[in-house]
Amino acid sequence: MSNAVCDALAQFPRLSRSILPTPIHRLDYLADKYGCGVYCKRDDMTGFGFGGNKTRKLDFLVAEALALGCDTLIGVGANQSNFCRMAAAYGAVDGLDVHLVLGGAKPELATGNLRLDHLLGATCHHIVDPDWRATIREGKALEMRLTDEGRKVFRMDIGGSSPVGCLGYVDAVLEIQDDEKRLGLSFDAIILTTGSGGMQAGLVAGKDACDWGCQVIGMCIAQDAEKQSSAVLSLAEAAATLIGTQVDRDSVITDDSQLGEGYAVRTEACVQAVELFARKCGVFVDYVYTGKAAAGLIAYLEDGRFGGDDNVLFLHSGGSAELFE
Ligand SMILES: Cc1ncc(COP(=O)(O)O)c(C=O)c1O
Repeated sequence: MSNAVCDALAQFPRLSRSILPTPIHRLDYLADKYGCGVYCKRDDMTGFGFGGNKTRKLDFLVAEALALGCDTLIGVGANQSNFCRMAAAYGAVDGLDVHLVLGGAKPELATGNLRLDHLLGATCHHIVDPDWRATIREGKALEMRLTDEGRKVFRMDIGGSSPVGCLGYVDAVLEIQDDEKRLGLSFDAIILTTGSGGMQAGLVAGKDACDWGCQVIGMCIAQDAEKQSSAVLSLAEAAATLIGTQVDRDSVITDDSQLGEGYAVRTEACVQAVELFARKCGVFVDYVYTGKAAAGLIAYLEDGRFGGDDNVLFLHSGGSAELFE
C-alpha cells in the first residue's frame, strides 16, 4: 500500500525546501517516569524559514502555485501565525510577492513571527476585528483587488489546510513508517496539535491509505472536539480523494480536554507542560499549539493510558517563535 501512496503523491508538483526526514528521539524523562516508549518527532526542525509543520504543506502548495504560473501568494492568519511566516519565506525564495492578511492590530513593535514576516519582505495587512470571518473576507477581497491589478494570485486557506496542503502529512506517514523500521518499533499512537486540521487530516488519510494501525490523536486548540472532528474528516476525505483512497470516520480522534477557554488562551496545564518540556527534555514547545498537545500527552501518561510495551509519538509541529513574542 505504501508504494501506491508514494506513486499517487508523485503525481503532484512538489518543492523540497524542508530538511526531511525530521529527527526522532526518545523523551527519556517521560519514558523513564511512566515506563513506556515516549518519542518525539521534530517537525519543528524542518529547517527552512525557522521550521515547523507548514513546510510539509507549503512544499506542495507553493509548487502548485508555481505550476499555475502565479506571481503572488496570499496567506491569512493571526498576527503571530506560523503559517504566514513560512509562506513569507517560500515567497521570498521562490520569487513570489507575499501578502499576509493578519487578524490583529499592528503592534508598535513587531515581535516573534511578525518580526520575521517583515524581515522576509512580506506586505502585512492588519485586520482589527474580533470576528475571524472579517480577516477571511479581507483575504478574498484582497485577492480580487490584486487580480484586477493584473496579478496572478494564489490565495491559501488558513494554515495551508487545503486538500493539496494535507498531502504533506500523507507523505509524513510514509516517513514515520520508515522511522519505525529504523528504530525497530511500532507506534501505538501519535499525539499532535490540531488547529485548522490539515496536519491531522493528512495523517489520517495517510494512515488509512497505508492501513497503518497507529492511532492519530489530535489535541484541539481552537474549537471543541465535535466541530474539530468534522472539519478534520472533511479535509481527510478530500485529501484521500486526491490520492484515490478512502477514510474511515473512526480514524479521526480528537480531544478537547486541553482547549481551555479557546485559541491562544493559556491554561495552567499548558504552562506547566511548556516548562517541563524545556527543563526536563530540553525541547521548546509554545503556549498556543504544541504546549497544549504536550499537556495532553502528559495527562494521558498520568492516567495510565499508555504503559508497558506501548510506544507513543509526540509530533512536535513547531511554533517556538511565539516564545519570543
Ligand atoms: C506550531 C503549530 N502546530 C500545529 C498547528 C496546527 O496544524 P493544523 O492547522 O494543520 O491543524 C499549527 C497551525 O497553525 C502550528 O502553527
